[in-house]
Amino acid sequence: MKRILICGANGLLGQRLALLLSTQTEYEVLSTSHHRSFVHDNRLLDYTQLDITRKGDVKSLVSSFQPTVLINAAAATNVDWCETHREEAWRVNVVGVENLIEAARKVGAKLIHLSTDYVFDGKAGPYSEEDRPNPISYYGKSKLAAENALRIADVPFAILRTIVVYGHGINIKQNFPLWVLKSLQEGKPIRCAKDQISNPTQVSDLALAVIRVFEMNRDGLYHVCGSERLSRYEFALRVAEVFGLDASLISRVLSSDLQQSAPRPMVTGFITLKAESQLGLKLMDTTQGLTLMKRERQTAKDH
Ligand SMILES: NC(=O)c1ccc[n+]([C@@H]2O[C@H](COP(=O)([O-])OP(=O)(O)OC[C@H]3O[C@@H](n4cnc5c(N)ncnc54)[C@H](OP(=O)(O)O)[C@@H]3O)[C@@H](O)[C@H]2O)c1
Repeated sequence: MKRILICGANGLLGQRLALLLSTQTEYEVLSTSHHRSFVHDNRLLDYTQLDITRKGDVKSLVSSFQPTVLINAAAATNVDWCETHREEAWRVNVVGVENLIEAARKVGAKLIHLSTDYVFDGKAGPYSEEDRPNPISYYGKSKLAAENALRIADVPFAILRTIVVYGHGINIKQNFPLWVLKSLQEGKPIRCAKDQISNPTQVSDLALAVIRVFEMNRDGLYHVCGSERLSRYEFALRVAEVFGLDASLISRVLSSDLQQSAPRPMVTGFITLKAESQLGLKLMDTTQGLTLMKRERQTAKDH
């Protein structure tokens, strides 16, 4: 039986993985995250608090659970916060990963790690796995440093880079589509960048990609994102369309008008041929992804 340890199981991706994997009898799953309590019912799914920056705690939990696979969905993901809280961001995004590498090596576990399009400078997207990273934000730098730590480590690993992840989740942190949705529902006007272009990713596609990586015993680097490339402004319009909200509240601006603390890579997006062919994925476009999110939100409300 495969023993799977999930770190960051309270996050958007982590909680989806916890749910999908814990319902399969061939896996023994232990979910962990920074917070004391779990977003899911911990009478049904096993949960333990684990701060990945605490080396000793990581070491003892990993050596007692003895995972075959360790999935790291934990990270400091707020790009502007990382820009202004560099030491804390480095501790989670780099030192935390180094702690997981060391612990995984000791028990012979495979480490599956998540990274981002923010490792690129956004001058020449869409990017393939062979393109050269050149991060322009501190978040991007920290995520690239973690990738490099994995590359030189003596452990089996896979890195999945992804872009603007969205979907239904419980108590998830604010993200772009949730902010658009909330603002439009409250009738608040919003300004969205027309010059930030990328491929938003449905969390269920990303979770499936992670699962395929270990089920198919793949390693190395994979680019995983939605099949449609669009600006933040167009993404916001799509949210309005799918959720039946007032699109006239959305205005189109330049990134330079938004005064964000961290610089953003302007044009990213990924070439996903490797992930599609080697992992057998069929990635959703934005309308499909948002429609699924809407259905899942509705189902959660009905229960
Ligand atoms: N979301 C995106 O748009 C996006 C885009 C590209 C790449 N990614 C990457 O995809 C991965 C998953 O992202 P996500 O959207 O699921 O993130 P998320 O919703 O922000 O969740 C991250 C989780 O990490 C946990 N965490 C933070 N610090 C921790 C620590 N010291 N120890 C243990 N857990 C800690 C938090 O746990 P608690 O809630 O328990 O405090 C949080 O639930 C990350 O590696 C991220 O960099 C995300």
